[in-house]
Amino acid sequence: VDHLIGIEHLTPRDIEIIFETADRFKEVINRPIKKVPSLRDTTIANVFFENSTRTKLSFELAEKRLSADVVNFSASGSSVKKGETLVDTVNNILSMKVDMVVMRHPNPGAAKFLSERVDAKVINAGDGTHEHPTQALLDSYSIREKLGEVKGKKVVIVGDILHSRVALSNIYALQKQGAEVMVCGPTTLIPKYIHELGVKVEHNLRKALEWCDVANMLRIQLERQDIQYFPSLREYTMLYGLDKKLLDSLSKKIVVMHPGPINRGVEITSDVADSKQSIILNQVENGVAIRMAVIYLFASKINR
Ligand code: CP
Repeated sequence: VDHLIGIEHLTPRDIEIIFETADRFKEVINRPIKKVPSLRDTTIANVFFENSTRTKLSFELAEKRLSADVVNFSASGSSVKKGETLVDTVNNILSMKVDMVVMRHPNPGAAKFLSERVDAKVINAGDGTHEHPTQALLDSYSIREKLGEVKGKKVVIVGDILHSRVALSNIYALQKQGAEVMVCGPTTLIPKYIHELGVKVEHNLRKALEWCDVANMLRIQLERQDIQYFPSLREYTMLYGLDKKLLDSLSKKIVVMHPGPINRGVEITSDVADSKQSIILNQVENGVAIRMAVIYLFASKINR
């Protein structure tokens, strides 16, 4: 593949290569000097049309640790506000001799649309409700680190599956590596096409947690919802919130994940998020090595 638009188009071997490359970069970023000179000749633009903390900073750090030159663009405060289009915006940035674009955008399909219209490598940093490939890669990489391998593991993704690019990318990534995947949430937040993806569906959180080795607790994406179809946040928390009492009552110790940002007290309580079973900050740490690997591998495809 020429661009990283989604996990859907990667092979299991592609994922293995990304992980093996990330292993090497994880060693690098744990040294006193956290940089390698690999991308001294590469310029990367991080183009964000939607808010981000983890993904934006993690890509920027990954690029800097590869010694790339980096420019950051946020739609807010830019000439997008004066009516400039996505393609015009990116082509203007590219004319300043930029080789690669990392883009987050609220519209599903925006990354593919851009990749077909500009002369640069495009890395999708999340396109609306579609995919968030680097998040799924860092999630699987974190499971592999914690449990030895992803193959054969049972992973439940809990919450707002309907609006979640993290859920879709995780489903593709986990299945390609031989994990069993279940989704759990209220009917209103599970897409109708879910069975076509070959995942199990469970509406009872306790049953889902008893089944799994790993629970990935998603945020309710209030910014993407029609509020009237949604159970109230209080009802959601009562039925699908993970608290310490529920976690401790399970018959085995499961691994707890969350892509962030957390709504503490809604999908997960603080004592679970900060517990020994949580690998939430390991996920964030691994995001830098994974993004270094992705950028390094795609930069090797740039025609100079
Ligand atoms: N997980 C994630 O994508 O977080 P941000 O929205 O802060 O980048």
